[in-house]
Amino acid sequence: MTDLSALEKQFLSAHIKPGGVCVDFTMGNGHDTAFLSKAVGENGKVYAFDIQQKALDSTRKTLSDAGCPDNCTLILDSHSEVLSYVKEKICAGVFNLGYLPGSGNKALTTKRETTLQAVKAAVSLMDSDAIVLIAVYPGHEEGKLEGQMLLEFLSAFDRKKYCVSKFEIANSPASPYFFAVESK
Ligand SMILES: C[S@@+](CC[C@H](N)C(=O)[O-])C[C@H]1O[C@@H](n2cnc3c(N)ncnc32)[C@H](O)[C@@H]1O
Repeated sequence: MTDLSALEKQFLSAHIKPGGVCVDFTMGNGHDTAFLSKAVGENGKVYAFDIQQKALDSTRKTLSDAGCPDNCTLILDSHSEVLSYVKEKICAGVFNLGYLPGSGNKALTTKRETTLQAVKAAVSLMDSDAIVLIAVYPGHEEGKLEGQMLLEFLSAFDRKKYCVSKFEIANSPASPYFFAVESK
């Protein structure tokens, strides 16, 4: 059966280059940060953002437990501020929208206004043959609205410059789905 998170990694792997620069826009417990860190290797660079100190603490442990190279910069700030921190072109950016798994504080979820700012910034940072992948959780109200907003925004992209695709489980509308924005 299709495993969306495995499919996400396939998409990312097709664009990530050893020595490249990646951004994890929603660090959480750091599983995507660890994946990106290993994929770019010791000569690469990963910037990871979260608004919660506990996400940085948890990610530090995830990176250490996973034996990741020392190539990550963990940033306690909103992903909407990415352009203040990242000056290089990126080969991959990952958003895993929603709230910190297991935190209990669902108020600290991603929100449409800052998500849109961050996605616009992410696209502006894309190198050629790069990817921005955005996982959406429509099972809660803000997640549903973020997904609708992103569909409207991303559908308008120029097909000559970007391929925007959406992957969802058609017979499970409340399940997570993802957008992949690939640059030419
Ligand atoms: C679904 S979790 C991410 C899970 C993560 N990818 C992992 O591997 O564990 C979403 C995260 O986004 C964070 N977040 C919410 N608003 C944010 C913002 N404006 N900027 C950066 N991170 C934000 C939350 O604190 C939460 O940790």
